[in-house]
Amino acid sequence: MKWIEVNTYEEMSEVAANIFSKQIQEKPDSILGLATGGSPVGMYKELVKRHQADRLSFKNIQTFNLDEYVGLEQTSPASYWTFMHENLFNFVDIQPENIHLPNGKTADLTAECVAYDERIKEAGGIDLQLLGIGVNGHIGFNEPGTPFDSMTNIVELTESTRTENAIYFNDPSEVPTHAITMGIQSIMKAKEIVLIAFGEKKLDAIEKLKSGHVTEEFPASQLLNHPNVTIIFGGTK
Ligand code: GLP
Repeated sequence: MKWIEVNTYEEMSEVAANIFSKQIQEKPDSILGLATGGSPVGMYKELVKRHQADRLSFKNIQTFNLDEYVGLEQTSPASYWTFMHENLFNFVDIQPENIHLPNGKTADLTAECVAYDERIKEAGGIDLQLLGIGVNGHIGFNEPGTPFDSMTNIVELTESTRTENAIYFNDPSEVPTHAITMGIQSIMKAKEIVLIAFGEKKLDAIEKLKSGHVTEEFPASQLLNHPNVTIIFGGTK
């Protein structure tokens, strides 16, 4: 595991954008795994800038997002589909048919989980996966206690995660109780993984990860068993 300590959120975003730009330049038809939340916003801004200034092209890029809320319309203001369009997809030349997010609004959620992993496999697997980390160590929406061998599945969100994400909703009670998320095993299949975390809130989670103790009670710790992970982190108490 490679650790890169940064001084500012902007620096984290730039370092992460460098890794993604390099991947896109070296393999213009890369399969990218993408994440939502406050952590990647700066990196997406940086990628949009590079698309506009340096013609970094997403024309043949395919993306698979980690997760989506269950029960929200795709176009709901709080859906991850909307988040991704407002932060990245609307501003680059990605083809709509190359954008994949789990469908949290389908009648048959179990079938959607199986189909999502299948779609990733058919595309050739994820080349580069971006991750944030929840304060409780969740990755995607895989909460503590999730088996490491889990594939894409439906999860019940913890109170901690619902509270963390309430800022994206008009009222905390509107935060869905369930989500569909790539499993830990689905994430571990990516060829390369970049995890970004900045700020006081994330320090404990980063410290836990650094301790090297692998346990299902701290989902991100399974990344210690992956051969190609970079952690870009920073912030002080
Ligand atoms: C949500 C997402 C995660 C993300 C986490 C942290 O729970 N499902 O993928 O890592 O939020 O988000 P933030 O970057 O806003 O702290």
